[in-house]
Amino acid sequence: MKLSVLLVLVLVSLAVNAVHAQYGYGKPPPPYGGDDDVNSAKSLWSALAREQLVGNKVIHSTPYQGIHPHGAVLETLDAEVNVSSHRGAVIIKRNYGGSGVSKSNVATNPERYLQAITVMFKRERGYDADNKDWFWVKYTPSGDIFKDAQGRALAGRVAKDSKTEGCIACHKTAPGADYVFNHDRYTR
Ligand code: HEC
Repeated sequence: MKLSVLLVLVLVSLAVNAVHAQYGYGKPPPPYGGDDDVNSAKSLWSALAREQLVGNKVIHSTPYQGIHPHGAVLETLDAEVNVSSHRGAVIIKRNYGGSGVSKSNVATNPERYLQAITVMFKRERGYDADNKDWFWVKYTPSGDIFKDAQGRALAGRVAKDSKTEGCIACHKTAPGADYVFNHDRYTR
């Protein structure tokens, strides 16, 4: 009798441990790819679509020759958007590629060459104080979120936990220490 009670206790504690290991009980949330990050990315996409900054009514600018890793031809838009109660600067980069890609082909038929939309959104102060409070996300042309090799959604502080991989590690080297390559407007 006593032995079976003991056995039940051991099994229960094993099960509790397994649940904790699975769901990371007590651990801080991951810097990116969590449910909150994905939900924020979805809200951001809706806000951008409302402002015609993504989606089928998107406003186009003149495509330009891009550099690695973003794509052969790029289009970049700077704006401000409201997401929930926060208003922040947003930079939207449309990344074009594929066979036959050129500035004029993209200008004529943008959707055919669109491969990804990479976005930086300036979040509320303290969101990521180490990295100028930028939220990073990589969308497919239809607004889904790309995943990395580990299956984590590329949304949030991507990839704060790596010194070599991901948006933050590379954009940290941008001139002006504002994480933006194309200008230094947000350095001020
Ligand atoms: C290996 C380096 C590198 C990585 C990784 C990288 N970028 Fe960039 N990114 C650049 C460079 C260089 C530019 C400027 C290129 C241009 O516009 O011609 C740029 C430009 C941008 C811009 C336009 C604003 C600016 O900085 O000029 C956005 C938005 C952007 N990247 C988003 C992202 C996101 C989101 C990720 C991660 C999913 C990412 N980038 C990963 C190098 C990188």
